Amino acid sequence: MAIFKSSLLIHTSFHFLLLLLLLLLHPCNATRFIKSCSFDAIYQFGDSISDTGNLIREAPIGTATPFSHLPYGMTLSNAPTGRCSNGLLMVDYVAMALQVPLLNPYLKRDADFSHGVNFAVAGSTALETTFLAKQRIYAPVTNSSLIVQLDWFKTHLKSICSTETECRQKLGKSLFMVGEIGGNDYNYAFFQGKTMEEVESLISSVVQRIKDAVTEVIKLGATRVVVPGNFPIGCIPIYLTAFKSNDPAAYDELKCLKGLNNFAMKHNIQLQGAISLLREEHGSNIDIAYADYYTAYKWVLSHAPFLGFDVNSIQKASCGAGGEYNFNVTKMCGAEGVQVCSNPESHMSWDGVHSTQNGYRLMADWLLRDIMSKIRCFF
Ligand SMILES: *[C@@H]1O[C@H](CO)[C@@H](O)[C@H](O)[C@H]1NC(C)=O
Ligand SMILES: *[C@@H]1O[C@H](CO)[C@@H](O)[C@H](O)[C@H]1NC(C)=O
Repeated sequence: MAIFKSSLLIHTSFHFLLLLLLLLLHPCNATRFIKSCSFDAIYQFGDSISDTGNLIREAPIGTATPFSHLPYGMTLSNAPTGRCSNGLLMVDYVAMALQVPLLNPYLKRDADFSHGVNFAVAGSTALETTFLAKQRIYAPVTNSSLIVQLDWFKTHLKSICSTETECRQKLGKSLFMVGEIGGNDYNYAFFQGKTMEEVESLISSVVQRIKDAVTEVIKLGATRVVVPGNFPIGCIPIYLTAFKSNDPAAYDELKCLKGLNNFAMKHNIQLQGAISLLREEHGSNIDIAYADYYTAYKWVLSHAPFLGFDVNSIQKASCGAGGEYNFNVTKMCGAEGVQVCSNPESHMSWDGVHSTQNGYRLMADWLLRDIMSKIRCFF
């Protein structure tokens, strides 16, 4: 036991040194980046991974979702904002790193949008909900899909500039985050009983919508665009619970479901293919970076002990009603009587679907280091 402990210690401190070295050697680490980059604004499109308060302002369903009340937002001095976490999201950490004020949600009336707008809506899809309905896939919480969010953006543009040239000038020094989006198209399909084959057949349409959205924002004046991929969904409690398997071979080294992770990879590979095409189409004045949420998530899981996570409950939701993953779809976080564990910051998952603030902070750190070597700064 003692030997095991000390070898673990050596292992951990070795990792620490390696990480320190990597941070120091990295050509564009977060701190250096903060000093040299100046973006005027951030425009975010997406779903619950980035929503800072749109869904809870949307009738008829949004106002009734649990995201507007505790324990959501408990880490923000007990002030729920509509963020689907105990605290902040990755987009908040990106804003802080770029020294831009945290983004207000588009649906917040009379909010300050001088440094960008957040159009993301929790529960939204990349594909139009009418398109999904034709395939008998139903979006239960919102119809504000990616195209709707783009329409909001165009409406917003009319309020800040009047000619095409003026708009291009206004947007030229902004960062555009197109996603993560598309995760819900797949979530709804999987949880409404579609087969793996059926869900895979959606990928090309989802990727096409994301590609079209990037083309659209570039046409309107975007020059720096980040396009995130999907998470390793086979590592997330809601999927681990619903698709639990008795076959040990169904799980990878991080105890995640291989089949679902492979599915996420298929989406991510097609998305990166679309990004390569976009780069060819738009030439060298436009930077388009892929944000690798898949690797960021797995990086946190695989470094969990070193990052201060509770290793025994790394796959359990912080807020939930029990079961192997502390997740039960009939009693989810926010429902009456559902408890929050004493230390959400030592968990990756907040409610079995979304990450904790600490998880998001660590992934944002990883992503900023990666992305900012691919996106040119403004000075
Ligand atoms: C989405 O649109 C359909 C068709 O108009 C409507 O029946 C449904 O209630 C809408 N869903 C939400 C959540 O607003
Ligand atoms: C979820 O809760 C219900 C009762 O509320 C229970 O019957 C069921 O076994 C629970 N499922 C899991 C996975 O714990």
